[in-house]
Amino acid sequence: MTAVLEVRDLKVRFATPDGEVSAVNGVSFDVNESECVGIVGESGSGKSQLFMSVMGLLAKNGRALGSAKYRGTELVGMPVKDLNKIRGDKIAMIFQDSMTGLTPHLRIGKQMTEVLVQHKGMGEAAAVKRALEMLNLVRIPEAARRLAQYPHELSGGMRQRIMIAMALLCEPELLIADEPTTALDVTVQAQILDLMSDLKRVTKAAIVLITHDLGTVAGLCDKVQVMYGGRFMETGSVQEIFYQPAHPYTAGLLASMPRLTEGRREKLYAIPGQPPNLQRLPKACPFQERCDYVHERCVDELPLLRDVTPGHAKACHLLSLANPVSDPKAPSLKVADEARSA
Ligand SMILES: Nc1ncnc2c1ncn2[C@@H]1O[C@H](COP(=O)(O)OP(=O)(O)OP(=O)(O)O)[C@@H](O)[C@H]1O
Ligand code: SF4
Ligand SMILES: [Mg+2]
Repeated sequence: MTAVLEVRDLKVRFATPDGEVSAVNGVSFDVNESECVGIVGESGSGKSQLFMSVMGLLAKNGRALGSAKYRGTELVGMPVKDLNKIRGDKIAMIFQDSMTGLTPHLRIGKQMTEVLVQHKGMGEAAAVKRALEMLNLVRIPEAARRLAQYPHELSGGMRQRIMIAMALLCEPELLIADEPTTALDVTVQAQILDLMSDLKRVTKAAIVLITHDLGTVAGLCDKVQVMYGGRFMETGSVQEIFYQPAHPYTAGLLASMPRLTEGRREKLYAIPGQPPNLQRLPKACPFQERCDYVHERCVDELPLLRDVTPGHAKACHLLSLANPVSDPKAPSLKVADEARSA
């Protein structure tokens, strides 16, 4: 398998008047060609900032440390003018709120063709033809008429389709979709996910799908990375994450998925407590304050991500959820070592 994106020990820090925020705390992973990777975790777990750092889009008070390579080229620390050649062309990102991704005072046609003229050096007529093809691909009805419309004249679902079409214009090798359906109602959410699944087959792009909802990744993703406190708690195939969760946090997320009872979506369980304060992360395991299985070692030693079976890994000291005693072989990083290297 060839990696489109290789991330190694990536960290994101924000400087604030109250101290440093440790939003991402050393994550490593690959996104391979044509693969769909789901990034799942509660609000504030670092999902968006991880990919904002890859795209060079961190806020001014943020900095990325570590490495993120697109086809072998280092993105961390790359000058903006070089990043701009890759962003939107080789790597495209779509966001939750379609209004922020579109320019309100420009017609859809203009916004779409400008990208092609800029990145691909296309003439106007060829650019319009390609824009129409993309609108048809994302199933926009009356595509030609839409080109003359402004973003506010379209529904939220339609705007989200247009954002996806724009992201695909230059045939990116990697599409990062950050909560692409969260702002939409349930029916439109299902339509957009259905569309993404079609696009996965039609385009060759690798897809990263960021979501707080495990249900969203089920039908679309090949592998899942569960994030908490800026770290990966568990990584594996969709089947492994859903049917053989090995980390207490993943098990908690699965238990808190809404169930359909008598036609209504009901949430029967919520993980007790709150995500950790990223300015004062607990010593050792970030999940310790909410974990039913917490024991002495969890408070003392940071568990490292290690294979449960090939391709399925967890960052937890337990032998297994079924046998919740500390695994003497589980590798850990003594907190003192971590503090020294941070
Ligand atoms: N510019 C900033 N300055 C300080 N802290 C920031 C800044 N931007 C983000 N953060 C913090 O970084 C942490 C991770 O944020 P991130 O946006 O990655 O969360 P997320 O997992 O995407 O959550 P959500 O599901 O709500 O989108 C949060 O605690 C957030 O408050
Ligand atoms: S390391 Fe300990 S606290 Fe952390 S998830 Fe595992 S059992 Fe729970
Ligand atoms: Mg986010």
